[in-house]
Amino acid sequence: MARKLQLLAIITSILIGIFAYLYHVPNSEGVPQMDRIRLLSASMKIISFVGQVSETFGFAPAWYVQRNSGVILKKLKPTEVNVNLKIEDTTIDGVRVRIYSPFDLKDDKTKLLPAIIFFHGGAFYMGSIETHHSITRELALQTSFIVISVGYRLAPEYPFPAGLDDCIKVTQYVLDTNNAEKLNIDSKRVAISGDSAGGNLAAVTAMRFANNSNNSSIPRLQILIYPVLQFFDFMVPSYLTPALHIFHFGRGGLVLELYINKSISEDIIINNHTSIEQKKQYRRFVDWSLIPNEYRQIYKKPITDNIDGNPKLIENAKQILHPDLSPLLVENEDLSKLPSTYILTVDHDRLRDESFIYAARLKTNGVDVVHRHYENTFHGSLTFLDGLFELDIAHRMLSDIVQYLKDKL
Ligand SMILES: *[C@@H]1O[C@H](CO)[C@@H](O)[C@H](O)[C@H]1NC(C)=O
Ligand SMILES: *[C@@H]1O[C@H](CO)[C@@H](O)[C@H](O)[C@H]1NC(C)=O
Ligand SMILES: *[C@@H]1O[C@H](CO)[C@@H](O)[C@H](O)[C@H]1NC(C)=O
Ligand SMILES: *[C@@H]1O[C@H](CO)[C@@H](O)[C@H](O)[C@H]1NC(C)=O
Ligand SMILES: *[C@@H]1O[C@H](CO)[C@@H](O)[C@H](O)[C@H]1NC(C)=O
Repeated sequence: MARKLQLLAIITSILIGIFAYLYHVPNSEGVPQMDRIRLLSASMKIISFVGQVSETFGFAPAWYVQRNSGVILKKLKPTEVNVNLKIEDTTIDGVRVRIYSPFDLKDDKTKLLPAIIFFHGGAFYMGSIETHHSITRELALQTSFIVISVGYRLAPEYPFPAGLDDCIKVTQYVLDTNNAEKLNIDSKRVAISGDSAGGNLAAVTAMRFANNSNNSSIPRLQILIYPVLQFFDFMVPSYLTPALHIFHFGRGGLVLELYINKSISEDIIINNHTSIEQKKQYRRFVDWSLIPNEYRQIYKKPITDNIDGNPKLIENAKQILHPDLSPLLVENEDLSKLPSTYILTVDHDRLRDESFIYAARLKTNGVDVVHRHYENTFHGSLTFLDGLFELDIAHRMLSDIVQYLKDKL
């Protein structure tokens, strides 16, 4: 009897421990709708745990579990009824896309509409047209423009530059006047957009077209939603400040290891992937004085600029400083060629500060910039426009983007 009671006590404490761990979301003061966010956070912790167990016991790698659980979570949402859109899954130049167009367009074959090309997020190895369907569908519904969501190839099966090449191919096609007309698109009114890793692909794609004098059309706008803009400084204040993080997987090293298919050690998060020489050369692109003062109360200036990195890591990581991976690490002269830009940032985000720096540098170089910063929310929150974890902030963010598109595109 005593043994049984003891066992019961042990099991109960383990369960309480697990629930407490799942329920606890640090740094969440002031964040609204925490009941839902706790549930969301718990699901992410479970996915992360299952991924680790699976990898440890030699079933599937963690990235595979994470990628596929995103798809399963999305399946839990209500099926949509009778939305006022034509939605077509097809390919452009061999790249999978989903095209959303207004229903009434079929009555008028000659009508040309603005278009939004969208690259989904997911750290370059997760995410899909499906996981971001609620964003792209709402964009199409609320703007009445054409939206093209791009199913670019993912790492690690297809490392850099495969995904980027796909994004450029689709953009190239849509910017061609003849092709665009076939899709009822006005090639002079095309916006490039994306969230997180997709924001990186959008910024790189926009730069490529803006910087190529052979191109007759360039995108009219770029819309960057908490984008990844640089892999030079992993010790900006937003990386160092404790914050509410929902997506626990793949910080720094692992993501890059998958994306560029080179061995990258965790040393990268203490900036050990650059030499003192490189730190001197690149610092001017990542100027801390452009980060708002309130975010630099504790971390006032770059910390590791006089420390040499790890030679093996420096060699493997050289590539990530290229503008095709780090679109912030670009000369002012090239930045000035960029189209009008909308940048969305949130406070609980490691990527927060690089966007502040990018926005400030674009403005200084004469680019028309609208920067909307949202407090008390986390990286990835725009994804939650419907379903179990629907968030008010996601709707506010979306309607602000829609307003900008209606004004500018
Ligand atoms: C990644 O790199 C390794 C070693 O260079 C190579 O053998 C492998 O084929 C690469 N993987 C992919 C998916 O390209
Ligand atoms: C822009 O084009 C010039 C000339 O081709 C090239 O030297 C430069 O590296 C390009 N910049 C970017 C950011 O790609
Ligand atoms: C522009 O086109 C010319 C001729 O086709 C080519 O030589 C040149 O490299 C191109 N420039 C760029 C920036 O792609
Ligand atoms: C336009 O620029 C893109 C990106 O650099 C390139 O892939 C494409 O070939 C260019 N198109 C023309 C017509 O020069
Ligand atoms: C890496 O960074 C740490 C801390 O900034 C430093 O002490 C160390 O010397 C660096 N280099 C190597 C090779 O780890």
